[in-house]
Amino acid sequence: MAMMIPEETVNKIRQETNIVDVVSQYVQLKKKGKNLFGFCPFHEERTPSFSVTEEKQIFHCFSCGRGGNVFTFLMEVDGLSFPEAVIKTADLSQFQLDESLVQDHNHKNQPTDSTKEKLIRVHEESAELFHHILLNTKIGEDALEYLTQRGLTREVIDTFNIGFAPRERTMLQQYLVGKNHEQELLKKTGLFVEKDNGDLLDRFYNRIIFPIRNQQGKTVAFSGRIFQQDAEDGAPKYLNSPETQLFNKRTILFNFDLARPAIRREKEVILFEGFMDVIAAWKVGLTNGIASMGTSLTNEQIHLIDRVTDHVLIAYDGDTAGIEATKRASDLLAAETNFDIDIIRFSEGMDPDEYIKKNGADAFKELIAHGRETLFGFKMAYYRKSLNLSNESERLGYIEKILSELLTVTSAVERELYFKQLASEFELSIDSLKEQFQQKFHESRNQRTKEKQQLYQKQPVERNYPQVQMQKRKPDNIENAERLLLNRLFHFEEAWIIMKNGADDFHFVHDEYQMLFILYESFREHTDNEGPIDAFIDFVKEPELKNLIVEIELLSISNEVTAREIEDYLDMISRKSILQMKLKEKQEALTEASRRGDKDQLRVLMIEVVNLSRLLKNK
Ligand code: UTP
Ligand code: MN
Repeated sequence: MAMMIPEETVNKIRQETNIVDVVSQYVQLKKKGKNLFGFCPFHEERTPSFSVTEEKQIFHCFSCGRGGNVFTFLMEVDGLSFPEAVIKTADLSQFQLDESLVQDHNHKNQPTDSTKEKLIRVHEESAELFHHILLNTKIGEDALEYLTQRGLTREVIDTFNIGFAPRERTMLQQYLVGKNHEQELLKKTGLFVEKDNGDLLDRFYNRIIFPIRNQQGKTVAFSGRIFQQDAEDGAPKYLNSPETQLFNKRTILFNFDLARPAIRREKEVILFEGFMDVIAAWKVGLTNGIASMGTSLTNEQIHLIDRVTDHVLIAYDGDTAGIEATKRASDLLAAETNFDIDIIRFSEGMDPDEYIKKNGADAFKELIAHGRETLFGFKMAYYRKSLNLSNESERLGYIEKILSELLTVTSAVERELYFKQLASEFELSIDSLKEQFQQKFHESRNQRTKEKQQLYQKQPVERNYPQVQMQKRKPDNIENAERLLLNRLFHFEEAWIIMKNGADDFHFVHDEYQMLFILYESFREHTDNEGPIDAFIDFVKEPELKNLIVEIELLSISNEVTAREIEDYLDMISRKSILQMKLKEKQEALTEASRRGDKDQLRVLMIEVVNLSRLLKNK
């Protein structure tokens, strides 16, 4: 979404916002010394290491290293683009955003953006119409009756904005034309099918309508359910909007917008197969449920989930298709990141909705809380399903498979448990199982090492400017000097003067600091030396560098600066770069000498290289 907001507006919003007010809406903050602290919203933790510095208007997590300004925070926490985060900040801090300013700019640069906004408006208006028909009209009565039969309360119908599209296939079309929407726009909504003569017919008719919302809670598509016996033959139970500019099935998770606070609170998401299951769970108070749109999970969806939690509870249907889907989903989740995955299996092929209906809300909640299976336990049952374990070769194959799977179980206690289970079930000794497991363990480690080596051979490490290679290393003296120097450069004109008067070939030793330095120089030019640090964070695009700025900003350092201090930093950094240059020269000479076969020279150079390396290390 390439919406543009003028820079002055962005700056104004930033100036008039207090990051503490915004963050407080997501994290409970407590004052400790100069800063405010709370639990980091980006990962799980037991002690609060997430800090907000009001004075500098930045946040930083001492545990995961994420940091930035108010916009970065909203981008990360809500998965927004930069302009979306700016607008949300304006909203949250009740800043009167001059809509025309934003829009005008849109028209000049990005005509497509206003199309998207219009498409959303059409969806929102359509949803309201369907909802109204369901609740307040005679033609909606049967549909409402059906939903009531299924146990949906008025409150749930309102929350999910459920509606009804009547039989008449021009109803929505007429309504929207009446609201002055153009035919061309309507065609882009996916809500119509075009007749040969170009007329539009409503795609959804005689169906109960479920709005599909995106992450920001905007309606971007619909799914319509058949509910009467006399429905056309072969019509799908659920009819979904086609892919449009707004709607991409791969990136949508049903109910993600409403579930997010509960997912954070519960530190867990429940993944359902159908959105009726999400709604049924919501009704009994489990509000951290989401579903994909009848398709396998995609990487995009997994990354969305990964942003809010590490715990996934898969609660798919209990039938064969559901069990296969569970296996697939858990494999996909496990391949992407380190999720903790648990499984709920519903008996007798039921789905969650049916389970609630049959056994009641309490039984369902009990099952979710205490009836879970570990992922490994699920897999054991899964592999066994299609085997005849009285057959010896199938039995051996099964044990092999399970031992391979055990490689993915990191908890030794849990592994021990499964060894015991396998041993007693197949009358094997635990020792022999462990021995076989150890062997597999070594094989897989060797395999991994080999793969890694091949990977490195295939991709010679190239460094192109300005891509900065960031390695996590413990800052040494030089690095500390680089950080302190940058901190001073951020805040003291004196530091610039001393620096400019010193050596003109000055260069930071580490790429990322040199990069920050160059960027800060152009930021200064851009802002006539007046830009605050939280504006610099927006100026820099790379997330890693943004984090680094925050780390540098948070160094504890005196409020006064002396010329001597700056000179010391420059000195320390330059000396190191001179040594590095010398080392590089010697290394090149060494290669050259070895090519010529000059043994004497080689010996001399070798000693020099070793000495220089040592010197560098002790710096
Ligand atoms: P299910 O058939 O399990 O839905 O499909 P459900 O939740 O049990 O629905 P009810 O209880 O019969 O009303 C699971 C998901 O697959 C997609 C939908 O997203 C649905 O939520 N689906 C299913 C379709 O897209 N089209 C279909 O025809 C059926
Ligand atoms: Mn189902």
